[in-house]
Amino acid sequence: MRAGESAQRNVLAGLAAPIDLVILAGIIPTFVENGRGDPAVIRRILRTNTYRRIAVLVCALAPLLMARQLGAQEALKVPEGLPDWTFNIPDKIQPTAVRVGGIVRAPGSAKEYEWAKVAGTANPPDWFPDEHPPAPRSVTGGAGIRFACGACHLMSGQGHPEAADIAGMPAEYLIRQMAYYKTGARKDDARMGPIANATSDEDVRQAAEYFASLKPAVWVKVIETATPPKTFIATAGRHRQLHPDGGTEPIGRRILEIPEDPFRTEIRDPHSGFIAYVPPGSLARGEALVKGGESGKTVPCAVCHGEGLKGLGEVPRLAGLQPLYVARQLFDIRHGSSAGKAADLMKPVVANLSEDDIIAISSYLGSLPPP
Ligand code: HEC
Ligand code: HEC
Repeated sequence: MRAGESAQRNVLAGLAAPIDLVILAGIIPTFVENGRGDPAVIRRILRTNTYRRIAVLVCALAPLLMARQLGAQEALKVPEGLPDWTFNIPDKIQPTAVRVGGIVRAPGSAKEYEWAKVAGTANPPDWFPDEHPPAPRSVTGGAGIRFACGACHLMSGQGHPEAADIAGMPAEYLIRQMAYYKTGARKDDARMGPIANATSDEDVRQAAEYFASLKPAVWVKVIETATPPKTFIATAGRHRQLHPDGGTEPIGRRILEIPEDPFRTEIRDPHSGFIAYVPPGSLARGEALVKGGESGKTVPCAVCHGEGLKGLGEVPRLAGLQPLYVARQLFDIRHGSSAGKAADLMKPVVANLSEDDIIAISSYLGSLPPP
């Protein structure tokens, strides 16, 4: 056994607390040395094999995560063992949902579109062209492009919770994720896998630079409640919507995100955001975990994600991201369905988190102001 391995065994034997000490002991001096924001810091962290090896071991030993059974329908789309609520799987029974058709307009926009022409993924509406720099064809659509990024991530980059908010994310980070989707290291067989495969490196680079240049706004309002309104997941757009029957239902162990205005979300209006209902107590508990790591349960996020969780070097921002999205990523990383090399650094972070911890952390992050 190599020396490093016996050190890791000691770490593992002593449960979680020493793990974060070991990691912090390594990282903090590096930060002091280099100053904040230097991408070299991140490169150095990424090169540090000890962390990677700890991560791999922790993951291997972690009990095989949530033995939750999934129904036959969900099993088609949700990686086995992961909670279906993070993936917005359309309900089998579909009550009446918002139907869009004819000529559509968005409040405050001078534009109008024939819905049939912009409804798909090839030619998304651009309601506020003055609010962003000129966008490349991979984002707007154009000859030969079936999946324009603007269709799901919106021209604002902030996207819907079943997709992702990529506004202002570092270009290198975005390019790296596209590469992970392409190789399957990060799995999204329904959407980003095929899209990454169909998009040229040059189109990816242009799209990444475009989204990196955008400034995110507050896009989700987080509300703690034990009894959110009754909702269902509509087939169109995979959006959760208010149930026409009205009433409330217990939140249980979930985060439920609904559009502030389903019509405006459906027409991809970048000025109409989301409401996230989260279980009572999530925000305070999330803050404690994010800031303190709660004596070894996890690692304080700001060490790598920067002050205010606004991003640091090539490490993405977390502040103001959609809680449903963040929860899905934390489950995916823990499960191994998002296992790009750079995500190794996240493995010790998620290894000991319970479903409740993930809900709390994601809720708190969603409540923070974006940079
Ligand atoms: C049909 C809808 C759709 C289109 C079109 C689309 N995406 Fe996505 N994108 C998604 C979904 C869904 C996810 C979330 C997948 C997951 O949970 O890992 C996502 C996630 C991402 C992520 C990961 C974000 C993060 O913070 O890690 C990146 C990067 C991304 N998309 C880039 C692009 C680019 C670039 C394009 C255009 C070439 C594009 N997407 C087009 C649906 C789409
Ligand atoms: C040791 C460094 C480190 C620490 C500590 C850390 N992270 Fe990360 N995290 C990363 C890196 C690096 C990435 C990006 C991986 C990549 O490029 O693929 C990442 C990615 C993520 C993502 C995916 C973001 C997206 O847009 O898809 C989430 C969510 C996340 N981290 C949450 C957290 C939370 C919550 C904490 C604290 C509880 C935390 N991280 C602590 C290094 C870290």
